[in-house]
Amino acid sequence: MTTKEKGYVREDGRKNNELRSPIKAEVGIIPNADGSAMFQIGKTIALAAVYGPKKMHPQHSQDPEKGTLRCTYNMNSFSVEERIRPGPSRRSTEISKITEWALEPVLMLDKFPNMVVDVHINIIQADAGTRCAGINAAAMALAHAGIPMKDMVSSISVGKIDKTLVLDLDKYEDSEFKDGEGSTDIPVSITHAGEITHLQLDGKISKEQLMEVIEMAKEACGKIYEIQKKALKEAIK
Ligand code: CDP
Repeated sequence: MTTKEKGYVREDGRKNNELRSPIKAEVGIIPNADGSAMFQIGKTIALAAVYGPKKMHPQHSQDPEKGTLRCTYNMNSFSVEERIRPGPSRRSTEISKITEWALEPVLMLDKFPNMVVDVHINIIQADAGTRCAGINAAAMALAHAGIPMKDMVSSISVGKIDKTLVLDLDKYEDSEFKDGEGSTDIPVSITHAGEITHLQLDGKISKEQLMEVIEMAKEACGKIYEIQKKALKEAIK
């Protein structure tokens, strides 16, 4: 809720820079896949399964210079209260593309000319922040599949509600304030080395506040990275 004096105060009692809980990560959840992972943040749960590298078909889609990363994001029809029509949509096509862009910079795809690495992301429970949860799960699943990577990718969203920046919006915050003047939601994906591989922004924000968004996202992605790393280490054990 908002008051002019205090700014926005979060309904669930979180601090403005606090991630949702629980955060859970697990690797190797789908035995038939070459790599797989689950990432949960609050009530949002993403599963990712990697298949490949394998020969790209049809042949005309092959790239002789490097392998292709092909991500498919899907929000299951039962993942939200109001059942979603199954099958691809404009939104899922956009998020699939964005996931590829967020992950490609860390993958050494030049080692796999003419091949494709398929990543299937399923959102089995959605409570906002699903694209970021999907990217976190996919990055772990790629590492678990043994695809050579230069770094890990972690992802989180920073929201602006009125003038206040808040980390990791839940569905209530996302939908309640979406149409508010000056409100926006900014998903950011960052490597452990601090390189931004993905940032989406529609709405208005000052340069100063955008820098603040990046700092908040970097700090949060550092925490997510530790959780991803721990899950991968557990799987090796
Ligand atoms: O999930 P994310 O925040 O990355 O993307 P969004 O398009 O901003 O969607 C925010 C949330 O709205 C989703 O996580 C779902 O909880 C919900 N949603 C829904 O209920 N039905 C849809 N067709 C799309 C989104």
